[in-house]
Amino acid sequence: MKIKYLGHSCFTIETQGKTLLFDPFISPNPINDTIKAELIEADYILVSHAHEDHTADLVAIAQRTGAMVIAIWEIHAWLQKQGVTNTHPMNIGGKRNFDFGKVSMTYAMHSSSFSDGTYGGTAAGFLIETEGKIIYYSGDTALHQDMKLLGERFTIDWAILPIGGNFTMDAVDAAEAANFLRTKNVIGMHFNTFGYIVIDEHQAKGAFENTGANLTIMKIGEHIAI
Ligand code: NI
Ligand code: MN
Repeated sequence: MKIKYLGHSCFTIETQGKTLLFDPFISPNPINDTIKAELIEADYILVSHAHEDHTADLVAIAQRTGAMVIAIWEIHAWLQKQGVTNTHPMNIGGKRNFDFGKVSMTYAMHSSSFSDGTYGGTAAGFLIETEGKIIYYSGDTALHQDMKLLGERFTIDWAILPIGGNFTMDAVDAAEAANFLRTKNVIGMHFNTFGYIVIDEHQAKGAFENTGANLTIMKIGEHIAI
């Protein structure tokens, strides 16, 4: 399977012949000059919460590709009003099998509203079980105790976690999250896009020193095979 970084919190995961796109925020990303939103292909779009920096390109990509959007009930309801009809609503704690694998919607400690003021439900994250691996995409979140529960109940191979601070966890908290989640592999997200979340990447990696976990910081457009 292939994990590709499209900037900010946007990734694709290619697995089982399907492309899963997470939190599309591409065309307004001030530090992206490589990825074109109008060229992205997706079979599924997973949306963690409604904030603009996670949904800016959502409606356009969903309409162009016809991808199924997997999101919490309130985001599903908002999308229906925008004319996006291929949606699958979930809520925190729910699990569902899709043709690429299993999705569990997890709790995130964050807020969620659309730029038009519409309430976006609770902020969420996702556990993806596919090809015998478990990937945790936390969404925007603070460090929280429920991550311990995920670590107890799931063998998490990779965790995609915010490291930018200010609005979310920083790298120090992400290192503790890796400990809670009992995972050794962390991919950073939600950093450097705006002034509030500019980080020192060397310092961020330093926060993982002697923790037994490794922080991978990807460049926009870069991918890894896992
Ligand atoms: Ni947010
Ligand atoms: Mn955000």
